[in-house]
Amino acid sequence: MQVRSAVIPAAGRGTRFLPATKAVPKELFPIGDQPALQIVIDEALGAGIDHIVVVSSRDKPAIADYFERDDELIGLLDESGKTQLAERLRSIGTDWRATVVYQDEPRGLGHAVGCAREAVGDEPFAVLLPDELMGSSALLAQMNGVCASTGGSVVAAINVPRDEVGSYGVIDPAGALNADGVIAVRDLVEKPDPADAPSNFILTGRYVLTADAWTEIAALKPGRGGELQLTDALRAQAARAPFHAVVSEVSRHDTGNPLGFLTASIELGLVNPDLRQPLRAFLDQLKR
Ligand code: UTP
Repeated sequence: MQVRSAVIPAAGRGTRFLPATKAVPKELFPIGDQPALQIVIDEALGAGIDHIVVVSSRDKPAIADYFERDDELIGLLDESGKTQLAERLRSIGTDWRATVVYQDEPRGLGHAVGCAREAVGDEPFAVLLPDELMGSSALLAQMNGVCASTGGSVVAAINVPRDEVGSYGVIDPAGALNADGVIAVRDLVEKPDPADAPSNFILTGRYVLTADAWTEIAALKPGRGGELQLTDALRAQAARAPFHAVVSEVSRHDTGNPLGFLTASIELGLVNPDLRQPLRAFLDQLKR
């Protein structure tokens, strides 16, 4: 079954970007000429998804505003000949469906995803963390295919040096990596001591989950940091059902912290046809 809905959790406090996030959600910070949220939405649409469910917070009204149609502004852009920009605004929430749901307070990623249950319904769904950018839809599309062929949930992973695994969720493999980069998963270990880590494959923020994940999420008890952890629900699934990871070679960007945000802006600026040349010239000038 084609995955139709993507859940994008965006209700966190964004403390690493305070004081900016006091007024502006980090999910709307622009990377080049696009909000990070839109880049992640485009990734989902490119993988055949047509319903975007954003989990927001009442303290972040700008997120829901982003999906509100503004006919007056579109009209002004049309009148002044900025038709491409007008078209871009018009497409938000019309070529695809957007639903905004609310998390009452940031009680963890598992809780945030659970808030989308009614909007998604009982079918497989994707989860995309908006502070990780993947550059294309290829990984998510492959994950959708693996979910359909195995009938189980699928997570995205990347291979990192052993000394870096201690800050992440790590995959405990149940077999070897196949030629397509797919590996069966026995369990997930949160922030292990690198010496005891079961692999070098860390979770990165893309998931394709079967509908029974809703039951595991609803049953979550507070875990690490007192929060309801999505990883705990995935562990329960992996213990009783087929569960796989797709290990990706994509150059992923973590924009959830100031340095990652800055480097992502530069790297993605260097592949943007409008920005590439002047940005390259500026960087060359800095080197001198
Ligand atoms: P992060 O931990 O990166 O975001 O969660 P954060 O909590 O906003 O950031 P810091 O750590 O305080 O700087 C990953 C994604 O999950 C969302 C966040 O908005 C972010 O997009 N999230 C996290 C929720 O929607 N609800 C939560 O309870 C926690």
